[in-house]
Amino acid sequence: MRKTFVITLGLCFIAGTALAFHDGGVAHCNGCHTMHNSQNGQLVDPDSPNGNPWLLVDATPSDVCIACHDHLDKPLGADPLAPPAMKGAGNFVFLLEDNLNDGHGGASNPIGGDAAGHNLNAPGHGLQADETLTTSPGGSFPASAMGCTSCHDPHGTSDFRFLYGAGRVVQGGIANFTNPAPDAEGLAVFFGSESQTSHTAYKGGMSAWCGNCHGDFHANGTKLIHPSGITLGGTIAQTYNQYNGTEDQTGGLAASAYLAEVPFEDAANTTSSTAGPGAGSQVSCITCHRAHASSAPDAGRWDFSVTLLEEDGAISGSYAIPDPYASPNQRSLCNKCHNKDAFDTIAP
Ligand code: HEC
Ligand code: HEC
Ligand code: HEC
Ligand code: HEC
Ligand code: HEC
Ligand code: HEC
Repeated sequence: MRKTFVITLGLCFIAGTALAFHDGGVAHCNGCHTMHNSQNGQLVDPDSPNGNPWLLVDATPSDVCIACHDHLDKPLGADPLAPPAMKGAGNFVFLLEDNLNDGHGGASNPIGGDAAGHNLNAPGHGLQADETLTTSPGGSFPASAMGCTSCHDPHGTSDFRFLYGAGRVVQGGIANFTNPAPDAEGLAVFFGSESQTSHTAYKGGMSAWCGNCHGDFHANGTKLIHPSGITLGGTIAQTYNQYNGTEDQTGGLAASAYLAEVPFEDAANTTSSTAGPGAGSQVSCITCHRAHASSAPDAGRWDFSVTLLEEDGAISGSYAIPDPYASPNQRSLCNKCHNKDAFDTIAP
C-alpha cells in the first residue's frame, strides 16, 4: 500500500509538477480509488478482500489520506513525544497519548488522547472514534463518522485547505454545511513549521465554519459562553498589543505583537504579518483551539489546566507545548487579551 503511494509521488517528481496531487481540485481518481481492488493480480487494499464501500485504495477515507500524507506533512506522526513540524492545525499524533492531564492530581486521573482533538475513524493507523463524546458538543455531528473527509472535500475545492463550505453535503449526507469555508491563507504543506513570522493568515469566518458542526457554541448573545466571531474592541486590542508576557505586561508594540499561539482573525493578516489586532479584529474558535489536535485536552493551543506554562507535560509526561515567552513565570495565554496576571508574584 505505502509502496504504491511512494511510487505515485515519485512520478509526480519526474513529471516536474512540483509534487502537485490535488492541484486545487480533483486529483487523478486512482490516487484514492481502485475499480477492481486488483492490480498486477494483487489486492490493492489487502484489508478488504471483498472491496470497500467507496472503492477506495484503503479501508476508510482517513486511512487513504494518512497513507499518502505520511510522506508529506505527516498529519499523524509516529511518536506523541516527538511530533513532526507543526502548522496551524496541530497534529493528530497526540490522539495516541495515554495521559494529557497536567492539572492537579493529573497522574492519578488520566485524560486519554481522545481528548487531544478530533478523533478519526482510521483503524489502519490505530485510530478510532472518540471514547467520550458521541456527537459534536453544541451540535449533532456523529463522532463515529469523524474523519479527514468530514471537514476536507476529498474531491478538492478552491476554498482554503479544501474545506467544505455553505450548501455542501458532507460524507453522503451525514451533515449539510450552512456556513462558508473560512477565509484564510495557509503555509506550504511541505516545508517549515509555524513560527511568529510564518503562520496561517486567519482572515475571517472560522468561528461560523466550526459552527457548521458545533452549532450553538457559536451562538453569541443567546448563551452565556465565551464569544467567538465578534470584534475585540479597542480596550482588548490594546491589551493584546501591549502584553509581552507575564514578565513584560505593557512593553509590547502593536507592530510586533502578533502571537501565533493566540491568533485573531483580521482581513489584513498575512502568513508573515507580525502586527497585533485592531479594534475590529475578531476572537475566534481558532484563538484557543487547534483544528486537528494538540498536546492538551480540548485541543487547546496551550494547556488550559496549568497555572504556569512550564508545568505543561510535567505531571502527565505528555509533550510540553512550547511557551512562546520561554519564561518560568509565564501564566495562561488568556492574559494576552485579558491581562489578569497584573500585580502577580514574579520569581526573582
Ligand atoms: C484524494 C482522494 C480522492 C480522489 C483523488 C478522488 N476521490 Fe472520489 N472519493 C474519495 C473518498 C474518501 C470518498 C468517500 C466519500 C467521502 O469520504 O466523502 C470518495 C467518494 C467518491 C464517490 C462516491 C460518493 C460521491 O461523492 O459521489 C464517487 C462517485 C467518486 N468518489 C468518484 C471519484 C472520481 C471520478 C474521481 C476522479 C475524477 C475521484 N473520485 C477522485 C476520495 C477521492
Ligand atoms: C497520492 C497522495 C495523496 C493522497 C491520497 C491525498 N493527498 Fe492531500 N496532498 C497531496 C499532495 C502532494 C499535496 C500538496 C500539493 C497539492 O495540493 O496538490 C496535498 C495537499 C493537501 C492539502 C493542502 C492543500 C493546500 O494547498 O492548502 C489538504 C488539505 C489535503 N491534501 C487533504 C487531503 C485529504 C483530506 C485526503 C484524503 C481524502 C488527501 N489529501 C489525500 C497528496 C495526497
Ligand atoms: C464535521 C464536523 C465538525 C467540524 C467542522 C468541527 N468539529 Fe469539532 N468536533 C466534532 C465532533 C463530532 C466532535 C466529538 C468527537 C471527536 O472529538 O472526535 C468534536 C470535538 C471537538 C472538540 C473537543 C475534543 C475533545 O475530545 O475534547 C473541540 C475542542 C472541537 N471539536 C473544536 C472544533 C473547532 C475549533 C472547529 C473549527 C476549527 C471544529 N471543532 C470543527 C465535529 C466537528
Ligand atoms: C475537524 C475538521 C478537520 C478534520 C477532521 C481534519 N482537518 Fe485538516 N484542517 C482543518 C482545518 C480547519 C485546517 C486549517 C488549520 C489552520 O491553519 O489553523 C486544516 C489543515 C490541514 C492541512 C494543512 C496543514 C496544517 O497542518 O495546517 C492539511 C494537509 C490537512 N488539514 C489534512 C488533513 C488530513 C489528511 C486529515 C485526516 C488525517 C484532516 N486534515 C482532518 C480541518 C480538519
Ligand atoms: C477563549 C478561548 C476559547 C474560545 C474562543 C473557544 N473555546 Fe472552546 N474551549 C475553551 C476551553 C478553555 C475549553 C474547556 C472547557 C470549558 O472551559 O468549558 C473549551 C472546550 C471546547 C469543547 C469541548 C466541550 C466538551 O464538552 O468537551 C469544544 C467542542 C469547543 N471548545 C469548541 C469550540 C468552538 C466550536 C469554538 C468557536 C465557536 C470555541 N470552542 C471557542 C476555550 C475556547
Ligand atoms: C483574542 C482575545 C481573547 C482571548 C485570547 C481570550 N478572550 Fe476572553 N474575551 C474576549 C472578548 C473580545 C470578550 C468579550 C468582551 C466584551 O464583550 O466586553 C471576552 C470575554 C471574556 C469573559 C467575559 C467577560 C465579561 O466582561 O463578562 C471572560 C470571563 C473571558 N473572556 C475569559 C477568557 C479566558 C478564561 C480565556 C482563555 C481561555 C480568554 N477569555 C481568552 C477576547 C479574548
